[in-house]
Amino acid sequence: MDYTVMMPAAGSGQRMGAGYNKLFLQLDHKPIIIHTLLVFEGDPACKGIILAVKPDERQEIQSMLDRFEISKIKVIVDGGTERQYSVAACIEAHAENGIVLVHDAARPFLKRSVIADLVQKATEFGAAIAAVQPKDTMKTATDGVVEETVDREKLWIIQTPQAFKYEVLKAASELAARDGFLGTDESMLVERLGHPVQIVESTYENVKMTTQEDLAFGEIILKRQLEDFV
Ligand code: C5P
Repeated sequence: MDYTVMMPAAGSGQRMGAGYNKLFLQLDHKPIIIHTLLVFEGDPACKGIILAVKPDERQEIQSMLDRFEISKIKVIVDGGTERQYSVAACIEAHAENGIVLVHDAARPFLKRSVIADLVQKATEFGAAIAAVQPKDTMKTATDGVVEETVDREKLWIIQTPQAFKYEVLKAASELAARDGFLGTDESMLVERLGHPVQIVESTYENVKMTTQEDLAFGEIILKRQLEDFV
């Protein structure tokens, strides 16, 4: 089953403190965004990628795409001031039914097997998201005082990719726009439609490169992945 990727890459990455788009930071001589794109470039089931970028970074990103011979980009759209608006621009640029995967450019370590599971579940049920379970004990607290310990079995830490039938994602995005609703992921928008969303168990390595610690962790993951291939 094939799919199209929508990849928001128009953030500023302030929490990384690099002073420029964190996606341009290098891991093993390649920018983070290129590592992420290469996962899809190498997946025969991926038929194209729609990339959302900041208008003033378009040229720099285009030259990276050329340099690393990324061939699956279908269209590059202007991102928005919020991640959700960047994804909405991708949705608008794509008018084809089928499965779409929304994936943050800042998560370069996703596994091909997770993509395949997501596509299969989204094909069957319309919506599926990657997630892992917390390893630590989880509690809620108010003003620094514990309220209760939460049943960890019911908790999931949500990642991307998130996979949808295109018409489901489009309807969810349009409803959010109409209501002025801003969510932190696409699943939230689909949940508002009343559409059930399936969980697909992902890996702890699929971290989002957000702060300097993530970068150090990323170097280790990459080294391990390269060793696995030897
Ligand atoms: O900032 P954060 O890491 O949560 O962003 C997740 C992804 O969304 C990143 O790949 C980032 O480039 C993208 N993004 C975007 N447009 C924004 C904000 C974030 O495309 N306005």
